[in-house]
Amino acid sequence: MQSDKIQIFDTTLRDGEQVPGCKLDTQQKLIIAERLDFLGVDVIEAGFPVSSPGDFTSVQEIAKLVKNAAVCGLTRAVKKDIEVAADALKFANKPRIHTGIGTSDSHIQYKFNASKEEVIRRAKEAVSYAKNFVDDVEFYAEDAGRTDNAFLAKVCEEVIKSGATVLNIPDTTGYCLPEEYGTKIKYLKDNVKGIENVIISCHCHNDLGLATANSIAGAVNGARQIECTVNGIGERAGNTALEEVVMILKQHPYLNLQTDINTKLLYDTSIMVRERMGMPVQPNKAIVGANAFAHSSGIHQDGVIKNRETYEIINPADVGVTESAIVLTARSGRAALAYRAKKIGYELTKIQLDTAYKTFLQFADRQKEVIDEDIHQIMKQVNKISKIAIA
Ligand code: KIV
Ligand code: ZN
Repeated sequence: MQSDKIQIFDTTLRDGEQVPGCKLDTQQKLIIAERLDFLGVDVIEAGFPVSSPGDFTSVQEIAKLVKNAAVCGLTRAVKKDIEVAADALKFANKPRIHTGIGTSDSHIQYKFNASKEEVIRRAKEAVSYAKNFVDDVEFYAEDAGRTDNAFLAKVCEEVIKSGATVLNIPDTTGYCLPEEYGTKIKYLKDNVKGIENVIISCHCHNDLGLATANSIAGAVNGARQIECTVNGIGERAGNTALEEVVMILKQHPYLNLQTDINTKLLYDTSIMVRERMGMPVQPNKAIVGANAFAHSSGIHQDGVIKNRETYEIINPADVGVTESAIVLTARSGRAALAYRAKKIGYELTKIQLDTAYKTFLQFADRQKEVIDEDIHQIMKQVNKISKIAIA
């Protein structure tokens, strides 16, 4: 029976770091790699060693440092790339070479100007060559999302014969729909000889906002590794967000798919990556955005104050967020004002709350958000009329 463990392959330091503005030096990469290992990822893709001397050094130093996760280096299907990656990974406890080639018609025609047979030959040669250096060789069929399934299956079967241990099926351009991507994974499971002996990996880009949905569809259809980045950073619209796939699997236990991620570290890890890479996270980003656990409309606030689960499907503590936020705006109601006032020490009677609420609305109409400082001001005015009890 197939294992229900989903391996988390983190490519923040490779696919994430190749984004303009996200460049890190070796020291910063080491700090992030150590955190990823602590977080519980199974594989850290540390870089593309042949691409620059700096990247080579980073991969080498990460390989020396990381204790639990496999450390992986990217290559093209080029001997020199593979030799350099093997050299950079030689001190890793668990080294993995990630090699591959484009398999879609447009890659074959425009990038390589080659035949399909030639692409298969290069793919096999790259995997066999990498096997001379490491046992664990992951093969990527670049642009698999737009590759004809029958041809993709043929490529996969051939690289398995050459010794690939993991088959990466990237939706490089973020084109697939979840059902289409899931069907692709199922097709490979049903049609590739030897596929039961390897791990199928999802590597989805987010050009249509479907990277996470596609990765989950892949896992549901038999993939057992998901490639992702913290905060979903990556080329163009980014990669699958690590925190999203991990929490989807956790919040949907009936899928019977688990990861080894310590989810309580997700929020801090997101902040660390955001700050080190200087890449802001949109406030409404799932799981780690500033508003992910913030409630501002009166109806929602009243519900959350009565019982968090009315409007929250994740306990913020599970991802390392201290508590849900009740944000005071002109859309907030009395319940929210009383709740926030109590948090900073004011216990209001019903009549005091009515008075305070009128003043509060004046503040709220003037500004985007009413903060604790404003609440103190409001309470001073109410206090002039009737003494407020200190909570
Ligand atoms: O998106 C992609 O196809 C990739 C491969 C190099 C794995 O990042
Ligand atoms: Zn990618």
